[in-house]
Amino acid sequence: MTKKTIRAIDALQEAQKIAFAPFIFQTTVSLRKLGVFDLIFDKRLNGGLTIPQISKALTVSEYGLGVLLEIAESYDIVTKNSEGQFELTKTGYFLNYNKTVEVNINFTNDVCYQGLFHLNDAIKTGKPEGLKELGEWDTIYDGLSQLTPEVQKSWFEFDHHYSDGIFEEALEHVFKNQPKTIFDIGGNTGKFALQCFNYDEQVEISIFDLPGQLKKALSNIKEKGFGKRVTGHEINWLHDHPQIPKGADVIWMSQFLDCFSEDEIVKILKTCVASMDSETKLIIIETFTDRQKFDNAKFVLEATSLYFTVMANGNSKMYRSSVFEKLIHKAGLNIIKDHAIGDFHTMLVCKK
Ligand SMILES: C[S@@+](CC[C@H](N)C(=O)[O-])C[C@H]1O[C@@H](n2cnc3c(N)ncnc32)[C@H](O)[C@@H]1O
Repeated sequence: MTKKTIRAIDALQEAQKIAFAPFIFQTTVSLRKLGVFDLIFDKRLNGGLTIPQISKALTVSEYGLGVLLEIAESYDIVTKNSEGQFELTKTGYFLNYNKTVEVNINFTNDVCYQGLFHLNDAIKTGKPEGLKELGEWDTIYDGLSQLTPEVQKSWFEFDHHYSDGIFEEALEHVFKNQPKTIFDIGGNTGKFALQCFNYDEQVEISIFDLPGQLKKALSNIKEKGFGKRVTGHEINWLHDHPQIPKGADVIWMSQFLDCFSEDEIVKILKTCVASMDSETKLIIIETFTDRQKFDNAKFVLEATSLYFTVMANGNSKMYRSSVFEKLIHKAGLNIIKDHAIGDFHTMLVCKK
C-alpha cells in the first residue's frame, strides 16, 4: 500500500491499532484461554451467544467479557448482531483454529512477550537483551533444556511446526545416493534422525548439538530402539575453532544456519568444508524471506527475525536467499541444486 492509497483517518486507525497492539494480543490470548472463542463458534448455528449467556456458561464475569469482546469487535475478531449475540469473524476463526496461528500465538506469548520489552536495547547492544526474562544464558539455545515446561513446549512446537512437515519430502533427496553416514548439525530432539532410521535400514547418523539438546536427542533415539545407529557430538559453534570429523556422505542442516550471523555462518560452513571430500553433500534447508508466495509467510519470518534479535542470540535472522548464496560461495562451496520443498522451504544441495 502506498501512502497515497490510504485515507488519513484510516492511517490513524492503523497507527492506533499498533499503539495498542499488545492489548489486542493479550485480549486474544485471554479469549482463547477462557474458551470464549470455542463456545461462540460451537453456538454459531444459533446465531452466537450474548454476554450473559457466555458468562453463565463459562463462569466469567460479564464485566470481563464486556471489555474483552468490545475491543475484539472493533478489531474485527468477533461480530455482534442486533440481539447482542457474538460470533467469530473469519479472522477470529483463524485465531482460534489455524494451527500455524496457534503455534505463533503461544510462541509470542510464552517465549517472547516479556523479553520483547527489551528490543530497543537488543538493537543497541547486539545482544539478546530479552533473554534474561527466561534465564541467565548467552543464547536461548544454551538454555533450551532448562526452560520451564510451558515455555519449552511453546518453543519446541514453534520449532517443529516449521520443519517437521518437510522432512518426509526431503528424505528422497537425502537418500538419493544411498548415504551410509549422515551428520545432522543442530539435530535438536532427534526428530529428523528418527525419520531417517525408519526410512533406511542401514544409515548411521551423528548428531551435533549443544549438550542439553544432544542428551535429549540421544535419549529419544535410544527409546525408539535405534541407539546402535546413532552417535552424538557435543559442539558449540560459537566457541573458537569448532571441529567436526570427516566421513559424512551427507551433512544435513535444517533451519540451523539462521541461528547465526553472516560471519558465523561462513565459519560454520568452512568447518564443514574442511571435513568434506569431493563427494560429500551438504544440504541446507531454510525458509527464505524472498521465496515466500504469501505475504503472511514473509511476515512470520520477519517477526521470527526479531525473536533472534531480542531472545535468541542478538545477531541472526531469517535471511534472503541471495545472502545465503553469497555466504555459501564465500565458504568454498558450490550450490549444485536449489529447489523448493513444501510450500515455504528451500533445499540447497552444496558440494566442495
Ligand atoms: C532452530 S533449531 C533447528 C532444529 C532442527 N534441525 C529442525 O530442523 O527443526 C536450531 C538447532 O541448532 C542448535 N544450535 C543453536 N546454536 C548452537 C550453537 N551455538 N552450537 C551448537 N548448536 C547450536 C540448537 O540447539 C537447535 O537444536
